[in-house]
Amino acid sequence: MCGIVGHIGPKNSVDIVLEGLRRLEYRGYDSAGVSFIDEHDELQIYKKSGKLDNLKGLLEGKDFQARMCIGHTRWATHGEVNDTNSHPHMKDHISIVHNGIIENASLLRKELATGGYEFKSQTDSEVFLALLTRELAKKKSFKQAMLDSFALVEGNSAFVVLNKDVLEIMSIKKGAPLVCGINSVNSEAFISSDPYALAGMASQLYFPADNVLCHLSPKNKNLINFYDNKGNPSEDFMSKKQDMSVGPTDKGEFEHFMLKEIHEQPELIRSLTQFYFHGEGLESLLKAGEFVPSKFHMTACGTAYYAGLLIRDFLENYNKIPCSPELASEFRYRNPLLQKGESGLFISQSGETADTLAAQELCTENNIKTLSIVNVDGSTLFRNCNNNLLIRAGMEIGVASTKAFTQQALTGRLLSLALSKEVNEEASRVKLTAKFSLLAEKIDHLIARSEEIKDIAESIHNHKGFFYTGRGVYFPVALEGALKLKEIAYVHAEGYAAGELKHGPIAMIDEDMVNVALVGPELFEKTVSNIQEIKARKGVILSIGPKDHEELAELSDYYFGIDFDGLEELSPIYINVVNQLLAYYIAKYKGTDIDKPRNLAKSVTVE
Ligand code: AGP
Repeated sequence: MCGIVGHIGPKNSVDIVLEGLRRLEYRGYDSAGVSFIDEHDELQIYKKSGKLDNLKGLLEGKDFQARMCIGHTRWATHGEVNDTNSHPHMKDHISIVHNGIIENASLLRKELATGGYEFKSQTDSEVFLALLTRELAKKKSFKQAMLDSFALVEGNSAFVVLNKDVLEIMSIKKGAPLVCGINSVNSEAFISSDPYALAGMASQLYFPADNVLCHLSPKNKNLINFYDNKGNPSEDFMSKKQDMSVGPTDKGEFEHFMLKEIHEQPELIRSLTQFYFHGEGLESLLKAGEFVPSKFHMTACGTAYYAGLLIRDFLENYNKIPCSPELASEFRYRNPLLQKGESGLFISQSGETADTLAAQELCTENNIKTLSIVNVDGSTLFRNCNNNLLIRAGMEIGVASTKAFTQQALTGRLLSLALSKEVNEEASRVKLTAKFSLLAEKIDHLIARSEEIKDIAESIHNHKGFFYTGRGVYFPVALEGALKLKEIAYVHAEGYAAGELKHGPIAMIDEDMVNVALVGPELFEKTVSNIQEIKARKGVILSIGPKDHEELAELSDYYFGIDFDGLEELSPIYINVVNQLLAYYIAKYKGTDIDKPRNLAKSVTVE
């Protein structure tokens, strides 16, 4: 949820941290702040509610020549959005930033206040600062005070602390994302909640395990040392080289990252089979196909869950493997029946979604094999699963997930091929490669028709509410289409099984309600009869279905005809792109912040 960046090095750390925060602003953007050691070795702090630009305004024209800095963009969990509750939090010679939730904060807060600590903010994060202050006052070392303070907090958190007295940064986490990096050429060390912040800056990344203490200091031979919870040197981290030529993505000629990412889909689709059939992904695909479980427990959140529903259809139709789809936030608490020989399947873009991580942990605790379909290589989910299939979507910056949905569903289709063992047959690989390429080509044609979708969006964007309806494999797409509209246009929209509308919700249909009817070639007549039920009640009909269909055109107030030929099981992914563009243009007409919608964050790393 929150973005964290820390830096030590000979350059101006404040500028480097601000650049990292700019890249992470999509993760959470209620407020931002930095704390640093200036050229006089004084600890300074600047923080401001609102977007990162508000903080930059405070720092305009100042050159602190700082060589050590930590920074934070906040997505509020405890305490309202204001300057005081913004991070960092500072006391005497230390300042901290935090991502996550301290679940026993109120108990600790009472104890610390009784011990004389005067809290300035309403946040749970300041509790860690108070604990650290108390432990340091006992003349403990910075390292020991960090370990002892961290041992007292419950819940999933990452803390990064800057200490003016010893001129060092320390960090520790549990169940929250944290990555360290170095650039040995420039003698720089970095720390962040997201590798994206370090793109093009750090040439070597380190992903510490939970409870590993990270120690960044110019006095360290390798700039970063790692310790276990007893303070002994630790090797409990994963490291990987980072291609320094890959910098942060920018929007290019696009007005929004979301539109850019919608347009990226054809190219990403084409490259997916290349990666898995002829590239470094083949080994993981074959490995994923080795273990054929008696049942999959598919769990995810939001858009990833809807992609998982499509994957459920692939696994049950092609592999005859039962696949029970569950929202991760429900699965983790309902004591699911988990039997030996079954497998957990986790779908996630970020690989850091708290509920999905907890669901994976529950499966591991029950000795159930775990497989992820995930975008971020090295993410917590990636590291915790027995096996992973990367979706190869590249960085997805838009908070509303688009290309990740497409890549998740298609990677699921490749999993289905691997489990059927047909992945070993060249003819099967060629056939599926051709189908993926056809999908990419049709999406290119869809994108070329954006103006038509934009015109429809202009006509319907002021209606009070939307139903997205679909049958069979189009029902998950109806759910996803409604979510897109809710997320970025703040319009009430519901995804509904077309056959369910008459069991109650049809009471809501009137001239101000729009029904976006997803009409695939399958179950066509049934879906059309549902449209007629809505038409009879004066609902506004937008049909997205097979092109050149007179009956559909006559029935509909708006009709967007598309060509499904040859796509077969990939048709739902295709029709979903129309919904992505529809939501985008409706949001544009409503003037919302499409890349950073209100109240949202890109990765929900807290419950
Ligand atoms: C999708 O548009 C949303 N941003 C949200 O539903 C997201 O899909 C969900 O939070 C899951 O995130 P993940 O894929 O990173 O696990």
